[in-house]
Amino acid sequence: MRNDNSASSAFTESLLDVAALRADTPGADGVVHFNNAGCGLLATPVLSAMVDHLRLEANIGGYEASAARAEQVREFYAETAALINCAPENIAFAGSATHAFSTALSAIPFEAGDVILTTRNDFISNQIAFLSLRKRFGVQIVHASDLPEGGVDVAAMAEMMRRHRPRLVAATHIPTNSGLVQPVAEIGRHCRELDLLYLVDACQSVGQYPIDVAEIGCDLLTATCRKFLRGPRGSGFLYVSDRVLSAGYEPLFIDMYGARWVEPGRYQPVETAARFEDWEFPYAIVLGCAAAARYARKVGMDAIARRTPALAANLRDRLADLPGIRVLDHGRQLGALVTFAIDGWQPEPFKAAMDARRINSALSFRHFAQFDFGDKDIDWCLRLSPHYYNTEQEVDQVIAAVADLSVANLRQQP
Ligand SMILES: Cc1ncc(COP(=O)(O)O)c(C=O)c1O
Repeated sequence: MRNDNSASSAFTESLLDVAALRADTPGADGVVHFNNAGCGLLATPVLSAMVDHLRLEANIGGYEASAARAEQVREFYAETAALINCAPENIAFAGSATHAFSTALSAIPFEAGDVILTTRNDFISNQIAFLSLRKRFGVQIVHASDLPEGGVDVAAMAEMMRRHRPRLVAATHIPTNSGLVQPVAEIGRHCRELDLLYLVDACQSVGQYPIDVAEIGCDLLTATCRKFLRGPRGSGFLYVSDRVLSAGYEPLFIDMYGARWVEPGRYQPVETAARFEDWEFPYAIVLGCAAAARYARKVGMDAIARRTPALAANLRDRLADLPGIRVLDHGRQLGALVTFAIDGWQPEPFKAAMDARRINSALSFRHFAQFDFGDKDIDWCLRLSPHYYNTEQEVDQVIAAVADLSVANLRQQP
């Protein structure tokens, strides 16, 4: 599908000093990194923040180093909060988006018959978590239908909210398996109107688009730091709204950091989202996340949100013109994830051929996205995900590589 952004791809280079941003990215020249939906390349300030802290730990001791950097650790909360428009007290660090998601789910006292209303494009691990809740507690899982052009049908979802009164509404903003961007703020308006608990997975959208939790109207939001935010691996966060905190939600396994043991037979959860954190912390990683959030805001989320999907749209449109290629992304809004099927190849050899050309990509399989890949009748696809620091020349390189590898193209050669 053609995307409105395509014409503006070259123009967006002028919004950002791409050369300077690449100079700040140690990996940028060694590889064509089109796997930002897997893990973005670290920028130098992010790398330095982590390496400096590890050195400090080695030199003065781990506990002493975290005490010495307490102020900088606090900046993680302030920077992350500024990125998604909330207060620092609403942010909890997590070791991954999935950990944040399961900790959030554990706080909801599900009972048999409760409904979880979600979409057909929600992330694989979220769907498995819902199935696990069904197995253990007997909840019902209801999937809202999709529009013919792709993406959830919000009107149908709102009707299901009224009919089922779900215990939880959950939506993944940008699924891992396609270029789709789901209308999470539209869904949120209905949740607020009906006072329903709303959990958003923003794993692929944080760092790619400006995120405003007030505008989305969510109660809980989960993300990783390693993807479009360009933070380190092994990091993520959970946003917990004031509504959820004051209603007394707490994770099932709350630890000595999330709660005070006030009497032998009683504990008291802390007031803030720290209730959802563990005592043990990877401080170097947290400092890297603070630096990544600061960096993204300095680059400018509006400029990033214009350039990144535009670069992807350019890539998507040109892939669609190649013989033997089927671009798979559809929906009203498309982002920086580009997925396609290619005739005549098996998945691993095709990815290996891209790797051999120093192009980073990712494979997606049917078991990552049972509904979506079932609808598209595919078993696998290749996913390419550029970011703002990638260039039009790199798009040219990727197009040339895929064209070169296309069996249909090879057949046409004499
Ligand atoms: C949409 C989405 N949600 C959640 C996750 C899980 O993130 P993590 O690996 O940090 O748990 C991913 C990872 O690819 C994702 O794409």
